[in-house]
Amino acid sequence: MNTRPRTRSTTPLRWWDIEQVAALEQVLFPTDSPWTAAMFWAELAAGRYYVVMRDGSGRVDGYAGLAVGAQDEADVQTIGVRPDRQGTGLGRALLRDLLDAAGRRRIYLEVRTDNAAAIALYRSEGFATIGLRRQYYRPSGADAYTMCRLADPPPVDAGKRRQ
Ligand SMILES: CC(C)(COP(=O)(O)OP(=O)(O)OC[C@H]1O[C@@H](n2cnc3c(N)ncnc32)[C@H](O)[C@@H]1OP(=O)(O)O)[C@@H](O)C(=O)NCCC(=O)NCCS
Repeated sequence: MNTRPRTRSTTPLRWWDIEQVAALEQVLFPTDSPWTAAMFWAELAAGRYYVVMRDGSGRVDGYAGLAVGAQDEADVQTIGVRPDRQGTGLGRALLRDLLDAAGRRRIYLEVRTDNAAAIALYRSEGFATIGLRRQYYRPSGADAYTMCRLADPPPVDAGKRRQ
């Protein structure tokens, strides 16, 4: 298990969070094969790095997961924020937690090409689009961008100035 210190407001995803997280998946990814509770159980069993953010009552407001590869690579498995808490900084905090956990690895992810909010978030954290996967999501048939963040990405502001 990863024992790195985490961003202050995240905690490890525990088995008792799984039902809440799977329910959020249904809300957040209704047309893209939302992950089931069984899939999250399998992720935990595989030792993957998952964190959640809770409100004061213990309700899960957001969650995120990372698969660390054998070499110098990692993959963002998922990231989601409860609809009524979106736009309040939780998504960025969750992503930064994953970036911290990934250390100096290259990080990959897939994102729907029409998911402007997520793409803006990823770009602002140093991810660049490196590929297009047509009809990646099922059953929606939506396309995905593959995005990658290098271990030492150039400053985002510097990238903007070059455009
Ligand atoms: C994508 C998601 C995780 C972002 O989380 P969030 O908590 O809403 O985002 P934050 O409040 O931390 O905002 C971080 C950045 O995201 C971008 N962003 C967030 N909402 C946005 C919106 N409605 N439109 C455009 N950009 C947006 C901005 O770049 C923002 O930075 P800024 O506040 O400095 O402008 C969240 O919207 C979500 O759960 N969406 C549904 C599930 C999903 O699509 N997950 C990603 C799968 S690849």
